[in-house]
Amino acid sequence: MKTFDSFFQKALKDRISKNIYRDLQPVVPGSGMIMECNGKHFINFSSNDYLGLSQNPLLKIQSQQWIEQYGNSSTASRLITGNYSFYPEIEKSLADFLGTESALIFDSGWQANVAILACLIEQLPKPVLVFTDRLNHASLHYGCKAGQVRQIRYRHCDMNHLSECLKRYAEVQGSRMIVTETIFSMDGDRSDLEVLRELANQWQCFLYLDDAHASGVFGKYGKGLAPAYADLTLGTFSKGWGSFGAYVAGSRALCQWLINYCSGFIHTTALPPAVIGCIAKALELMPQLDKARQFVLEQSDYVRNKMQEWSIDVGGSNTQIIPVIVKDANKAIQAAKLLADDGIWVMPIRPPTVSPNQSRLRLTISAAHSKENIDQMLNSFYKIRGLIQDS
Ligand SMILES: Cc1ncc(COP(=O)(O)O)c(C=O)c1O
Repeated sequence: MKTFDSFFQKALKDRISKNIYRDLQPVVPGSGMIMECNGKHFINFSSNDYLGLSQNPLLKIQSQQWIEQYGNSSTASRLITGNYSFYPEIEKSLADFLGTESALIFDSGWQANVAILACLIEQLPKPVLVFTDRLNHASLHYGCKAGQVRQIRYRHCDMNHLSECLKRYAEVQGSRMIVTETIFSMDGDRSDLEVLRELANQWQCFLYLDDAHASGVFGKYGKGLAPAYADLTLGTFSKGWGSFGAYVAGSRALCQWLINYCSGFIHTTALPPAVIGCIAKALELMPQLDKARQFVLEQSDYVRNKMQEWSIDVGGSNTQIIPVIVKDANKAIQAAKLLADDGIWVMPIRPPTVSPNQSRLRLTISAAHSKENIDQMLNSFYKIRGLIQDS
């Protein structure tokens, strides 16, 4: 036994007893949305590869070329010698694409959210009041935790409640931030960006929008939903872009400030050339992918309509993320197993990722799905509808 093993084992037993234990599965990606796990083939309905770019040959070729040209690693942080000449060029193109003054690449979405929020909260004039949607992504919570601020949480997407919270703190001097997702990762619903911007203006709040699930899929040419509204847009290359890493977009002052103050930018090695090559090619292709985006959104509507016809609860989803809410964690596991027996891969999402009694199967639709894949998935859901119907 190593130090603390008895603690770890007790904590794991607790998760097993509550049906919320997690384990890693060995996945082998195949063509389209086919994947293999433990010798069996599945159609993957759990990935965030919304445009199917993870297997795009042009992205693969550019990654390989950039490895050849620049090497395997960026070898240092951006401020030391990792700022290879392609970085500023791509950041300039990215800012032009997003329609912001400036953009800055970070190593991952999780890391960027934690590092930037902590930095803002530490540096802004005190007290810093942070208004957050209750269903925000874990990385946004950890950013607030790292900044040692108590979040003022408003009910999910409830703009009246946010407005009340802002009023309650009207007398407090200091800095205000509203932090939310544009498309919620586990619910597939959307924030009201018009009202968020109005409230941010009314109360002089900095509006921090995490656009991870909109980037590539929504907005003109896939530029996401946030840039037109946010003071800071956080996007990821790990989902709609088929790659890895993240970006921050906003004013030149904001990006230069992050280069100077944000430890999560300063003290980490720059993303490697293979990844940046892949991102650069995805950026080039993005404006040409309207058909793929249209397919994803039309098929998502089609799936949602079928589910609703069968009295299956899909929450407030109106995007490519469709939660099939079954509430009970055990039921979610059971349903996922039955679907897997039918060759459909949908992961059960359970607490603590979602609130207690909010367990679900999180379905995602991709441009790499064929119409046949989608109908096969619906057929499998139809077979198990008795188990998962909203009661
Ligand atoms: C809303 C949101 N923000 C940030 C992240 C983290 O992004 P990344 O996977 O690039 O670390 C995720 C990914 O799960 C997410 O859903």
